[in-house]
Amino acid sequence: MTSVFRAQGVSVSFGGVRAVVGVDLEIEPGELMGLIGPNGAGKTTFIDAVTGFVRYEGTVELDGASLNGLPPHARARRGLARTWQTVELFDDLTVRENLTVAAKDGGQASVDGELELLDLKTSAEAMPWELTQAQRKRAGIARALVARPRLLLLDEPGAGLDTRQSAELGELLQNIATSGTPVLLVDHDMGLVLNTCERVVVMDSGSVIAHGTPAQVRGDERVIAAYLGHSSAGAA
Ligand SMILES: Nc1ncnc2c1ncn2[C@@H]1O[C@H](COP(=O)(O)OP(=O)(O)OP(=O)(O)O)[C@@H](O)[C@H]1O
Ligand SMILES: [Mg+2]
Repeated sequence: MTSVFRAQGVSVSFGGVRAVVGVDLEIEPGELMGLIGPNGAGKTTFIDAVTGFVRYEGTVELDGASLNGLPPHARARRGLARTWQTVELFDDLTVRENLTVAAKDGGQASVDGELELLDLKTSAEAMPWELTQAQRKRAGIARALVARPRLLLLDEPGAGLDTRQSAELGELLQNIATSGTPVLLVDHDMGLVLNTCERVVVMDSGSVIAHGTPAQVRGDERVIAAYLGHSSAGAA
């Protein structure tokens, strides 16, 4: 099967800090792929690199075409959409308006599907301050989706959610993937990632230390050691 997305040998250095070291990662159509690792493992930097926000070595391809050398807006136009660790919505716009301004055509018709997919239909006319944390997170994801990306990269969408909210989010992310938009899910919420993703990549100190099914990575000695070495990583 041809991958939608392929990163090969991606490395990023900040001065002397090797934040990402030779990372290979492929994502297939319809896939929900997890990317986990302790604090400082390089997960966000990897997303920053492939979306064009930091310089990297290696190659990044989308639909078989190289993205190397392209700035962030050009990568977005090719089909990479991302969210950040904190959700920013326009405070003076409703949820629906927040989505509409992000849509390529600015058209009203296109956002209903995304509102539905993220379970936001009943809060479409709400203002951001009326939303729960879980709804804000979902609105941020919906806004990234209205651009109809080829790949959605999510940085910690589960942060701050309780167990039930995180399970709900997991279901919604699976729906997004099966309805045609593959997702790279970065999160510390082990329950969310290991219960919802079919394949998981684990990073530590910039490198991929394991990849496989949730069961495979859960039992991997290097993964267990990496998390034990970082007691703040929330691996419980
Ligand atoms: N702009 C920067 N300048 C210098 N060093 C940086 C910069 N951004 C990240 N780093 C360093 O790169 C490494 C990887 O950081 P990164 O934020 O990618 O980790 P992470 O896996 O996303 O961690 P977390 O789970 O805490 O979000 C860390 O050592 C970090 O201190
Ligand atoms: Mg991060």
